[in-house]
Amino acid sequence: MPESVTTGRAPRARRFLVCEPRHFAVRYAINPWMHPDTRVDVDLAREQWRSLIQAYRAHGHAVDTVDPVPGLPDMVFAANSAVVVGGRVFGSLFHAPERRPESGHYDTWFKAAGYDVHRPESVCEGEGDLVWTGRYVLAGTGFRTTREAHREVQEFFGHPVVSLTLVDPYFYHLDTALFVLDDDNVCYYPEAFSPGSREVLARLYPDAVRATRDDALAFGLNSVSDGRHVFIAPQAEALAARLGEHGYLPVPVDLSELHKAGGGIKCCTQEIRS
Ligand code: ARG
Repeated sequence: MPESVTTGRAPRARRFLVCEPRHFAVRYAINPWMHPDTRVDVDLAREQWRSLIQAYRAHGHAVDTVDPVPGLPDMVFAANSAVVVGGRVFGSLFHAPERRPESGHYDTWFKAAGYDVHRPESVCEGEGDLVWTGRYVLAGTGFRTTREAHREVQEFFGHPVVSLTLVDPYFYHLDTALFVLDDDNVCYYPEAFSPGSREVLARLYPDAVRATRDDALAFGLNSVSDGRHVFIAPQAEALAARLGEHGYLPVPVDLSELHKAGGGIKCCTQEIRS
């Protein structure tokens, strides 16, 4: 039996920033999941989103909210607005012109909360592509965030940035293909990465929990872990079972309505690391 099964895993309380999908819609297509003729049930989206917030609070996590703005249907995807490490905020510069105005609203929230916000010079989409592991930043590129932004992130935080190239348009953000389980391990779908990036991940995380394409298509990699509980899409049943075998406790939260825009649990969640 692997050690993780017998030892049990310790959760760490987090602080999250989220934005209610009050004005959620699929009006433009900037990833393969989005079809502007798709009907969206906003009430269902809000209800599903509220169940995520309840689940976070029930597990001891603090949740702050940014007010949603009419005309910005993707603003619910709070993860894309910044990456925050050690109380320092690296803001976003969205690839799609439709999403660019979101940044100003999030920056206003951060400033009111007492943070300075660094405005990036190159396209970069916050925690969508910039994943803090506890020791360094894993940084995705290929569809949205640029390599130039990776350099800027390293200069800003003074932490190593490991660039990883994404190759499958369905997994256009790093957080759709990989999530951090705890300070020592990650869970990811290898085929979403270029051969060299796959090798890098295999070297950094020889004991990673590997996911299948089906797990990834079910938004199973767009999960949030507190070190013990993994808030995960119920559609990713097989992956949840595998995480259970590794000693993690899956907490299923269904955000199916938000999947229509190509987003899931992690996309809706910005972590504020003080
Ligand atoms: N429709 C949004 C976009 O394509 C979805 C963003 C999902 N967010 C994420 N962190 N992966 O930009």
